[in-house]
Amino acid sequence: ISLSVSPTGGNASSPYQYGIMFEDINHSGDGGVYAELIQNRAFQGSTLIPSTLSPWVGIGNASLTLQNTSIPLSSSLPTSVNVAAGNGVLGIRNPGFWGIDVKVQKYQGSFWVMGSYHGTITASLESASTGEVLASTTIQTSSKTGTWSEYHFSLTPAKAATDSNNTFSLAVNGKGIGNAGLNFNLISLFPPTYKNRPNGMRPDLMEVLKGLNPSFLRMPGGNNLEGRYPPYHWYWNETIGPLKDRRGRPGPWGYANTDGLGLIEYLQVFAIHAHNCFTFLNSKKWCDDLEMEPILAVFDGLYLNRTVIPEADLAPYVQDTMNELEFIMGSTDTVYGALRASIGYPKPWNLQYVEIGNEDNLENGLSSYNKYRFAMYYNAIIAKYPNMNIISSTDVLSTPLGNITEDYHIYTNPPALVEEFNYFDQRTSAHKTLVGEYAITTAANSTARLKYPTWIGAVAEAVFLIGIERNSEHMFGASYAPLLENLNSVQWSPDMISFVADPAKTVLSTSYHLTQLFSKTRFTTVLPVNSTAGFGPCYWVAGLNSDSRQYILKAANYASNSSVPFTVNFGAGSDSTATLTLLTATGINAQNVLGGTNQVITNVTTLVKKSGSFSFDMPSYSALVLTSKIV
Ligand code: AHR
Repeated sequence: ISLSVSPTGGNASSPYQYGIMFEDINHSGDGGVYAELIQNRAFQGSTLIPSTLSPWVGIGNASLTLQNTSIPLSSSLPTSVNVAAGNGVLGIRNPGFWGIDVKVQKYQGSFWVMGSYHGTITASLESASTGEVLASTTIQTSSKTGTWSEYHFSLTPAKAATDSNNTFSLAVNGKGIGNAGLNFNLISLFPPTYKNRPNGMRPDLMEVLKGLNPSFLRMPGGNNLEGRYPPYHWYWNETIGPLKDRRGRPGPWGYANTDGLGLIEYLQVFAIHAHNCFTFLNSKKWCDDLEMEPILAVFDGLYLNRTVIPEADLAPYVQDTMNELEFIMGSTDTVYGALRASIGYPKPWNLQYVEIGNEDNLENGLSSYNKYRFAMYYNAIIAKYPNMNIISSTDVLSTPLGNITEDYHIYTNPPALVEEFNYFDQRTSAHKTLVGEYAITTAANSTARLKYPTWIGAVAEAVFLIGIERNSEHMFGASYAPLLENLNSVQWSPDMISFVADPAKTVLSTSYHLTQLFSKTRFTTVLPVNSTAGFGPCYWVAGLNSDSRQYILKAANYASNSSVPFTVNFGAGSDSTATLTLLTATGINAQNVLGGTNQVITNVTTLVKKSGSFSFDMPSYSALVLTSKIV
């Protein structure tokens, strides 16, 4: 196949082409990227997922009970654990989120306690494998009946644990406890966090996310935005402020969310410092942290069980979204801007993208979204923020309203996704498209979910992404979903990144490697290509990056026969050499798995121009990027 890339013409590429979609699923937030080490730190519960003691256990002969004391720690956190008075050393022990990674570093902890006790409380990290105490400190306390007191401490192990089978404990002298026992709540322990932010993120996972070079963050769902049924949608105002004022909620994925990873963390700690951003005309935004543009998804009156808020009742929900937007963007003279300032964030954020709901196409017949829900949200937001970019949660919406972007989701098998190569060529919608969720979830002719992404799946995703990049001027970008899974709590597979407590065991899937390659080689302009063959089984797209001054070709070969010879001519303005990065794998069904080695083979070679072209063979089931400097 000979490709001749026109050095001129073409269309501007989306500056957001690759991003990430995040919701708390598979303990991707609590027990995942949110760095809190203590599982069930505040006994948060609801009618849907009641409070539990699990996974806490007693130390010594400790008798533990959950109590809703007449004086709660806060109205948000009414439940605490009571350690009854007794003999000997008594306390509570937590195994973390299926283990605690213990290294020679400073862990910072805190807890609240109520009850009569004068003496020391010992906080420790211990190995459950060997029984060894890895770090320990004593906290002098004079705790009183009827008053909650907060204590802070730090732990610095002298050596790293041999594995992550470690626990955290608080222990007291049982004899010193008054008759009513001692109540503990909001027991927290953080390792050093990404960029040392308080209430921050797990650095290793943030580095892995950074490795994807993401340009946008779609959050906080997904199904997690919607909630299983009324009234359990995501409440932005209950995810802000001091942790003791965050009641948490029953996520739709079967476990209680602490909401420690809340709106501020998404915007500032996890995502960006949008108020530190500046924009180049026609260029991407450059922000702090992961340099991502937030796409804030707002609850729009549809729950997962298809309950819909009737038109006559929807106005307060719309107002709640307006309050959320004022909280994010309002000056400190506004009610919610002042609320933001009061919890330590006087500077407003510069939010530019709001998505109305999630997968509203799943509502029967889309009727209420079409009839009133989308319009009520759209009109209210645009009336106050005329420049806001609105995203509808489906691409089958019929609306006469504005210049919106439509969110398209696809989960399928490899041949079916390859069939979608020209989906965006054929779209006649005047609106842009965001592919907010996509993934290969099964093998061909199978309904069984894959445990991990496969190599053939990654090549199919490459074909799909090439189809998106060819139409970049009509696209916002694409994000694989779900992004993260804690392998001890999987509600949805496959996922792009799998992890456990031990950072050394993180699995970067075949899809991760493919996405990383494509995301790190961005076009600013997509260029026209003349070819001697049509698409299939090989697919390609070419462009240039005016910042890095490179011509770029991306290609995928989704075929089982032998390799395909290519010549690529970028024109006289390209350098005499080019760099070819070729991804293949140990087999088409290869998967990167826990404890395994990377099955994706990356080959980087330098090609020399001959007769104006670069030549190479493209193996079956492979993906590649060819770059050559613009001279
Ligand atoms: O990514 C997993 C789920 O798939 C999302 O929560 C939902 O939007 C979609 O159905």
